[in-house]
Amino acid sequence: MKYDFSKVIDRSNTGCTKWDEVNTRYGFDGLLPMWVADMDFVAPHEVVDAIVKRANHGIFGYVTEPDSYYKAIVGWIEKRHSWTIDRDWIFFSPGVVPALSFCVLSYTQPGDKIIIQPPVYYPFNRVISANGRFVVTNPLILRNGRYSMDFADLEEKASDPQVKMLLLCSPHNPVGRVWEQEELVKLGEICLKHNVLVVADEIHSDIILPGHKHTPFPAICQEFAENSVYCNAPSKTFNLAGLKTSYLIISNKKLADAYSNITHSLSVTKNNVFGAIALEAAYEFGKDWLNQLLIYLKDNIEYLKDFVTDNIPQIEVIEPEGTYLVWLDFRHLGLEDNELNELLLKKAKVALSDGATFGSGGKGFKRMNIACPRLVLAQGLTRIATAIQGL
Ligand SMILES: Cc1ncc(COP(=O)(O)O)c(C=O)c1O
Repeated sequence: MKYDFSKVIDRSNTGCTKWDEVNTRYGFDGLLPMWVADMDFVAPHEVVDAIVKRANHGIFGYVTEPDSYYKAIVGWIEKRHSWTIDRDWIFFSPGVVPALSFCVLSYTQPGDKIIIQPPVYYPFNRVISANGRFVVTNPLILRNGRYSMDFADLEEKASDPQVKMLLLCSPHNPVGRVWEQEELVKLGEICLKHNVLVVADEIHSDIILPGHKHTPFPAICQEFAENSVYCNAPSKTFNLAGLKTSYLIISNKKLADAYSNITHSLSVTKNNVFGAIALEAAYEFGKDWLNQLLIYLKDNIEYLKDFVTDNIPQIEVIEPEGTYLVWLDFRHLGLEDNELNELLLKKAKVALSDGATFGSGGKGFKRMNIACPRLVLAQGLTRIATAIQGL
């Protein structure tokens, strides 16, 4: 392996949310952070080199992205996702969550309803309610250890004329599904039929595990492209979340203009100098790094599954198809929420993301971030096993 993902790097005192905020956030000392979705790995050296080179220039004025920035996005989407896009369809956002919020503002009115599919990444709920719109849930169904969409329920919810939008999480955080094209087609047809705009958050779409294939929602057909907005970033893929650089792809001119109007009114049209540089370097030179990362993550998941089978059979692992987040079912322990939290935080001293925060269907589950050196993963799992064995 050219890249060493097994090296443990001390991230403490770097102002990093994952390690520096964990104890105050969870209210206990000595916690091992396996929560927020960033990785304990160094970004590709080409990205680091590009940032250092630009930093050495010493002047950090306003940014206008060069042609090469757009070329890098067009090339990445083409090569990685077999989708040919036009550079004029690309729009900036300082993060995918802000992008979702801008979409809510651009395409709906206060009082409108927006569908989400819980358990789902918790800011989906927030960007709707905090902007004065109403959340409508189309809960996922868990059957035989795998989640699927409830299309009958979706049809019913989408037929409400006040429903204007659906936030699609593809691949899905936290349940790890990589939606199959057939599932996306069903969802897309229901949304088309009822004039519901699809805003597709595809931030995890580069982290796809063997045996699965990601399909960009707008790439399925022209009608879906016209009825959707696509959000992505290099941040999950290359561990660049702190650079706050993401982009949208909007081929429908009317939707693109509405998005531009909102971002102009909020004055959030300008990228930051290091974000733009990093995106370009990552998309131009990061392919090998990513391919090796995917192998390491897959091995981490295999390690976790074997460990759980051998040592903590009370926990059920929902097999991830994508993302580096593993959805764990603790319900067989029969503990109340406060008892489970006490077990994990006070006894095991491991900080996982709490399932209940992802909305309905999340209670009794925890999300574990496995994007860390195997040694750290083993440490976290051993702590949990020891605490559970002591029950
Ligand atoms: C589905 C999803 N969307 C968006 C984000 C965050 O995006 P950003 O940091 O670009 O706002 C995350 C982070 O975990 C995520 O899982």
